[in-house]
Amino acid sequence: MTDITQIVLAKRPAGDVTADCFREEHVALPAVADGQVLIRSRFLSLDPYMRPRMTELRSYTPPFDLDKPLTGGSVGEVVESRNPRYAKGDTVIGMLNWATHTLHDGKGLRKIDPAMAPLQAHLGVLGMPSFTAWYGIRHICKPKAGETAFVSAATGAVGQVAGQLAKLAGARVVGCAGDDDKCQWAVREAGYDACFNHRTERDYGAVLDKLCPQGIDSDFENVGGKIFHAVFARLNDFGRLAFCGAISEYQDKEPISGPPKMFTIVQRRLTLQGFIISDHLALMGEFVSDVGGLLKAGKLRSRETVVDGLAKAPQAFMGLLKGENFGKLVVKVA
Ligand SMILES: NC(=O)c1ccc[n+]([C@@H]2O[C@H](COP(=O)([O-])OP(=O)(O)OC[C@H]3O[C@@H](n4cnc5c(N)ncnc54)[C@H](OP(=O)(O)O)[C@@H]3O)[C@@H](O)[C@H]2O)c1
Repeated sequence: MTDITQIVLAKRPAGDVTADCFREEHVALPAVADGQVLIRSRFLSLDPYMRPRMTELRSYTPPFDLDKPLTGGSVGEVVESRNPRYAKGDTVIGMLNWATHTLHDGKGLRKIDPAMAPLQAHLGVLGMPSFTAWYGIRHICKPKAGETAFVSAATGAVGQVAGQLAKLAGARVVGCAGDDDKCQWAVREAGYDACFNHRTERDYGAVLDKLCPQGIDSDFENVGGKIFHAVFARLNDFGRLAFCGAISEYQDKEPISGPPKMFTIVQRRLTLQGFIISDHLALMGEFVSDVGGLLKAGKLRSRETVVDGLAKAPQAFMGLLKGENFGKLVVKVA
């Protein structure tokens, strides 16, 4: 028997997530049964979608169970295997518990080469957030030279890749982020043409009119709420909107209303498409070769925040919902 540390959902949040929504537990791990593997977590990804999963509202993924460990995309090492597909010492990626160790049936796990890149990159610039950015830009926004592309949460795990891909496609790219350092990084390192601070800027319409004088041809939407409303009103004819997320709304107790004048969609012949990246896994190979190539060629920059220790995961997650992370947020578990 091995002792493991795990973090369970102790309470469903109403409004902002609070520390008492989590509980750290120390439990003995049951023996590994036929078909199972025991995985020691190395890195745990913290992602905005975990917030809706803490509630019981209908969504594309089932809610987390109360008093059970939360789960998240993770990289870990197989320490014991009774599953023929995995051997002790394999490095794997998949959904693991917020825990030092996870007993797993092997379904949905994928082996990765630990020599290929730093392990946490498989959760960020080589992983799900980057794949999300790639899909939304290449398949929905389709930015091109002569156009203006907008990206909200411009320096987040998804936004930073979306903005750079839009720039590489030749568009003028404008974004918003939650502090001046992030905005400077967006312009100096990620190649955005302009980025405004959505926490200090009061009039989103006025700043967008200034930074996007030709209007907006595509919007990669990560934030929702008032930023989205202001962007929506400035979409050009035949504009495309990839609705990736709405992080500003995840902690709202009451739903907010949509932008006024929905007839705009007809008048301007807009395409608005919501998407969930897990519906597009068949395109993973294309993403890896495209984005992997850009990384190898030094054409993509990435930022990450690494938090040391599983015990800090709840605090880090609460911070993510307030923009305290800069780029992909991961927890170094061991
Ligand atoms: N559709 C899909 O399949 C899919 C997949 C992955 C992610 N997503 C969505 O994509 C979005 C970005 O995810 P991510 O992985 O890039 O997350 P991330 O790296 O954690 O970035 C999220 C950023 O959002 C900003 N933010 C937080 N609260 C905000 C608020 N109230 N108002 C405005 N901005 C706020 C913060 O940056 P600032 O400091 O800049 O405010 C935060 O750092 C989220 O909406 C997420 O749910 C969707």
